[in-house]
Amino acid sequence: MKKIIIASDHGAVSLKQDIISFLKSNNCEVKDMGVNTEDSVDYPDIALAACNEFTKGGYDFGILLCGTGIGMSIAANKIRSIRCAQVYDLFTAEMAKAHNNANFIAFGGRVKYSVPVNAMIDKFMKTNFSGDRHERRIAKMMDIEDLC
Ligand code: RB5
Repeated sequence: MKKIIIASDHGAVSLKQDIISFLKSNNCEVKDMGVNTEDSVDYPDIALAACNEFTKGGYDFGILLCGTGIGMSIAANKIRSIRCAQVYDLFTAEMAKAHNNANFIAFGGRVKYSVPVNAMIDKFMKTNFSGDRHERRIAKMMDIEDLC
């Protein structure tokens, strides 16, 4: 059973509920870090809380949602050890796992995607990390955290 953390700002509350239903119907354990109303909040606060919870351990990956997926992914990628990929179709869903071994994926509640978000999540979950040369590239990417 996969354990997944999810959080959104006010721009993706209904998308979050839809994703949670999908994940639970696929026997995933879901930690919902909010928000659950459309009252305006600041997405960096939500991203930081979710990433801090994720780094405590025990989660397979996380999902961050805002209006576009952009703000959440930028904020998450500021946090040590986080690799948050903005996924927008089945190909990027697959590559986010296979090549980047992303530990978070981000979507926008106000974005019109060509495929359902749950199909992208399903693709990400069913893809394995390719390893090999991608291990080296990810190690170099994460080393940047100590270079600046
Ligand atoms: C909030 O209005 C909006 O800026 C936020 O949800 C997100 O899209 C930011 O990147």
